[in-house]
Amino acid sequence: MLASGCAFLESRALMKQLDSCPCYCNAYTPERVILNLTEDPSQSQAVTWRTCAEIEHPKAQIEPAADFPDLKESLRTIDAVSEKVILGNDKAVYHHSAVFKALKPDTIYVYRVGTDDNWSEWSQFRTACKSHDPFEFVYLGDPQEDIKSMCSQIFRVAYKKAPNAVFWLFVGDLVDNGDEDADWAELFYGFGWIPAMTPIITLPGNHEYPDRRYIQDKDYKLAHLWRSHFTLPENGPQGLEETVYFIDYQGVRFVMLNGNEKYEEQAIWLDRILSENPKPWAIVGIHQPVYSTAKHRDNLRLQNLLVPIFDKHSVDLVLEGHDHTYCRTYKLKNGVRVGDNNKGTVYVISVSGPKLYQAETKYKGLMAKIETGRQLFQVISIDHNRLIYSSFDVKGELYDSFVLEK
Ligand SMILES: [Fe+2]
Ligand SMILES: [Fe+2]
Repeated sequence: MLASGCAFLESRALMKQLDSCPCYCNAYTPERVILNLTEDPSQSQAVTWRTCAEIEHPKAQIEPAADFPDLKESLRTIDAVSEKVILGNDKAVYHHSAVFKALKPDTIYVYRVGTDDNWSEWSQFRTACKSHDPFEFVYLGDPQEDIKSMCSQIFRVAYKKAPNAVFWLFVGDLVDNGDEDADWAELFYGFGWIPAMTPIITLPGNHEYPDRRYIQDKDYKLAHLWRSHFTLPENGPQGLEETVYFIDYQGVRFVMLNGNEKYEEQAIWLDRILSENPKPWAIVGIHQPVYSTAKHRDNLRLQNLLVPIFDKHSVDLVLEGHDHTYCRTYKLKNGVRVGDNNKGTVYVISVSGPKLYQAETKYKGLMAKIETGRQLFQVISIDHNRLIYSSFDVKGELYDSFVLEK
């Protein structure tokens, strides 16, 4: 009940003053602000955002964190790159990106994006160390459907469980239709301010591509809203920019693959990138699992191509999605369980959203745990020669865990 007319009138006055709504936003306000890791997170950091109106000189500002931004000597301003994107309803929006470079390792920075009249709030991030110091990150399977209603909760619980996670790693099917802006709107609603503070790394699932059954080969390409929303590394094979790449974070080389196209090119590149790995650990992300757990699925082509490379380089962990189930294999080599002290690879499939399939697989004998019916997130810590993996449900309760040691 309205106690008096004052609040309403004040609200109307504020709306008039802002020529907008009372949430302080207008068509020039930065929205969907998201940090992405670069190839070297100890020295650089990427940020992407969008506005509904065209901006003449979009930019980003950064300085080392202090009690207050001093806006003086240490403040750096860099020009952003802009892209006009036409949505399905013919409406134009404007995506902007900037990469902060020459940063100091292991340092907290504050930054904001926008223009002189419409800045975002200040947010902060921490650069990676040069050394192999311990860290933890969050891994999430497909959010995909009912994101606002059903995934907001698990994102918030994940943030509460691991507030110091240095990044979140998604393995695709972030949305159900990668060409549909309303789906991305739900995703960023669910994220809230988290990706402005915690960088995201991700790769495309099949839902960020068209459905192969209804499209000709020439039209089979990455959804046009993928690259607009992210600024991911471009150090992968040609033609797969921002979908296949590697990032060295302290003691781990992370390799992100695109399970939708150009498998052979990726396999050659993967073999080289893992041969040159200067880090003690190697973790691979891919959407489509090599040992599928969903009924009527078996990705043999990927399995035949990738598993020998994973085995050759003793990849420690392969993080997957797509099957909308949960599974974690034993440590495997050449498709066979090996002892805990042997070299081998653990494969995990997880799901963060509410779309859940029945688990049914011919690979049951390889699974240390297999189940369905739960939205989950994982916190993975790397502390020198130990990797500690924990999977949690939406209540924040431990669901699965294991430790790898070198
Ligand atoms: Fe999928
Ligand atoms: Fe999916």
